[in-house]
Amino acid sequence: MSPKKKVPESVRFTYGRQSWSYPVLTGTEGEKAVDITELRRDTGLVTLDPGFVNSGACLSDITFIDGEKGVLRHRGYAIEDLAEHCVFLEVAYLLIMGKLPDRKEWQSFSDLMNRHSMIHEDMRDFFLNYPEQAHPMAVLSAMVVSLSSFYPEIEQEDLKEPIDITVTRLLSKLRTIAAFSYKKSIGEPFVYPSRRLTYCENFLNMMFSSPVNDYWPDPVVVRALNLFLILHADHEQNCSTSVVRFVGSAGSSLYASIAAGICALWGPLHGGANQAVTEMLERILREDGGKVDRVIDRAKKKDPRARLMGFGHRIYKTYDPRARIAKETCMKLLARLGMQNDPVLQLAVELEEKALAEPYFQERALYPNVDFYTGIAYRAMGIPANMFTVLFALGRLPGWIAHWLENRRDPVQKIGRPRQVYNGPALRPFVPMDQR
Ligand code: CMC
Repeated sequence: MSPKKKVPESVRFTYGRQSWSYPVLTGTEGEKAVDITELRRDTGLVTLDPGFVNSGACLSDITFIDGEKGVLRHRGYAIEDLAEHCVFLEVAYLLIMGKLPDRKEWQSFSDLMNRHSMIHEDMRDFFLNYPEQAHPMAVLSAMVVSLSSFYPEIEQEDLKEPIDITVTRLLSKLRTIAAFSYKKSIGEPFVYPSRRLTYCENFLNMMFSSPVNDYWPDPVVVRALNLFLILHADHEQNCSTSVVRFVGSAGSSLYASIAAGICALWGPLHGGANQAVTEMLERILREDGGKVDRVIDRAKKKDPRARLMGFGHRIYKTYDPRARIAKETCMKLLARLGMQNDPVLQLAVELEEKALAEPYFQERALYPNVDFYTGIAYRAMGIPANMFTVLFALGRLPGWIAHWLENRRDPVQKIGRPRQVYNGPALRPFVPMDQR
């Protein structure tokens, strides 16, 4: 008997008296999608999917998530392995270049990172004109888009430069810009990056050393920071990454696209949640006397303002694997810093336990996400709350770059342009102003 030929799967779509067949694609890990590229041409219909809950926007080689099983992999490597064995920049290299660097590649990547770590001296003056209370995310986004006026952009053919320079420049400078925006907000002089320090050591040094305060980064803090940045490095088509791809799809520059991504990340439902979590915990201690039951009851009433920040995720319907590592690292870090009795940490642990025992959270599969414990750890490192989302942005940058490049190089990618269903007034006669 000859072997059975595998028939490609398809979905049959019937509308009125006609029907059409659309192919089902299967990803590397077996996830399936119906390809509706021809749907509108065939049927005249568009799909309606607010929040893109059911829609895939692209094929991607970068990150795989199984939200039901709590699996996260970058370029095939498990997040647990990357977190245990790598420093952040190795993961950045992996995401952007598609492979882990060998020694030679690592050396030249590190050299490039060092060479491009300073920002143009004229850009220093920009910082001086922001008000002191300016949120560092606003400064970060504005400074990144300003980079495009100082440096040639890769998509301008006449100014073409090797992609690794554009990419490393951005990776290296974002860290410097982030630290400068903090120094500006506290009125201290800027500290320049140093060749002798690693990526994370440099960031901590630029944040915390001053002419009157020598600073030696604690290796435990450096390791924890590396780990948190790795946990944030990419998360496939999340809101900010989709924004970066979308802006890039119009042909906009890498810098402009990343600046838009930073603005998307700032929102409290996305990266801004890490700041919102610690603010929520501090508020519970201050205003609710640390009584978590009240807070859980309010969250169950579904008032969007009373949501438990740092809980829930669009994709994960089990414990977020990043949250598991973040919690463990946070506990170890605070113990090492002698802060194991920190009331904010204790409250977070109690809130997590009680929320997970509640049917409301169980039925909706609401677990702590990556933002629940990271802010507590940053706070223990001495980083102020308004810088937490900046750290998320530093971590997410390699993912944004990898997706921007993938999108730019994809021969079938089109400009992002969703459809809508118009629901406003039908055609009506124009009324001159004096008759309205
Ligand atoms: N507290 C209380 N109820 C919640 C929460 C929460 N944090 N999150 C979701 N729900 C409820 C929601 O009311 C809804 O209930 P029902 O089915 O009865 O209407 C159900 O759970 C599903 O929620 P959803 O809003 O439809 O879910 P979503 O996938 O659109 O939103 C989310 C995901 C992350 C925006 C949301 O869970 C949330 O607002 N969480 C708090 C903010 C947060 O921690 N954000 C960080 C996300 S992880 C890092 C990142 O990607 O940036």
